[in-house]
Amino acid sequence: MRVKIGLMGLGTVGTGVFKIVNSRGRYIKESTGFYPEIKKVLVKDLHKKRKVDAAGLLTNDPREILEDEEIKVVIEAIGGISPAYEYVKKALLSGKHVITANKELIAKYGEELGSIAAEKGVYLRCEASVGGAIPILHQIDRLKITDEMDFIGGIVNGTTNYILTKMGEGKSYKEALNEAQELGYAEANPDYDVKGFDATFKLGILVKRVFGVSVPVEIIPRKGIEEIKEEDVERAKEWGYEFKLFAWAKKFKNYISAGVEPTLIPENSLLSKVKGVNNAIILRGSSFGEYVFIGRGAGELPTGDAIVADLIDILINYKLGSKSEVTGVNFREESFTDTFY
Ligand code: NAP
Ligand code: HSE
Repeated sequence: MRVKIGLMGLGTVGTGVFKIVNSRGRYIKESTGFYPEIKKVLVKDLHKKRKVDAAGLLTNDPREILEDEEIKVVIEAIGGISPAYEYVKKALLSGKHVITANKELIAKYGEELGSIAAEKGVYLRCEASVGGAIPILHQIDRLKITDEMDFIGGIVNGTTNYILTKMGEGKSYKEALNEAQELGYAEANPDYDVKGFDATFKLGILVKRVFGVSVPVEIIPRKGIEEIKEEDVERAKEWGYEFKLFAWAKKFKNYISAGVEPTLIPENSLLSKVKGVNNAIILRGSSFGEYVFIGRGAGELPTGDAIVADLIDILINYKLGSKSEVTGVNFREESFTDTFY
């Protein structure tokens, strides 16, 4: 059986999804029973040169996806709030499963969109929104069944880690940022990366998953890397340290403390070995102790892989006939005081 997919966006992430779905269709069919077929691809500019051959599939009219009853799964890889929010909401209300890589959308509207998904009995999945290729949300959903976790932290933005790594190798901040943009790691507005907004969105999503608390991301204390100078990186190196943009949240009895800030890490520590676009996410739990998940935090294929992992999960659940009690966004509300410091 074929499952028809509407892909929204054919930039870095959409291209990765397009390549993986089209090259791994046979294997997806073998493991899920469904052959994935991208029926339409929504873009802004129909005349732009593409890295993949999507001729005949491109449209700039969202209704060709949202109003097509044959399309059962929508993959949103546009980014930002508007029009992504309107499209995702409409897709869910029309009974379509949605997979998104959009951390801003999930951090700000995950609660509302998750409730719509649950009401409609469809899935809203967002593995690619945190940690790139690292299957961190899947792991958290599994670990929180057996464990109480009290800490989550690490390097969650690939662009800033790439910039800091390259500055450590002698490149200028500007050169390194340009490279990160050319490689497709940076957000459309790179201020989101370097000023720490992207990391706070991801931290908000992680806090919700791990601790069950929704946090307005605006109140998470945030400092970016844009004031770090080449000479600061050099000086830190002389002292045996490296800068990393660190995002963390710790649960105490009645409150959670969290933040995003540049942090000096000893050069012989595990985190300092996490270079370039890689991310590292540390989880601490009552039974498993401590885990560190390391992997590609951004880029075409790593992000595409995380999205296709969500697609496979949805298709397997589909085959098993299970509905979406767990949307991945609204799982387990905690009742303790959700005060942030
Ligand atoms: P991108 O390269 O800028 O691609 C955005 C795509 O959306 C483009 O194909 C663009 O069309 C299309 N688009 C933009 N506005 C549109 C509109 N109003 N209507 C229809 N299509 C529109 O962005 P990206 O890097 O792939 O990121 C997409 C999302 O994934 C963002 O939420 C980002 O935070 C997230 N993400 C990115 C990465 C990464 O490594 N880049 C990793 C994880 C998550 P045109 O091509 O015609 O301009
Ligand atoms: N701009 C983001 C980053 C993309 O560099 O981490 C991946 O979420």
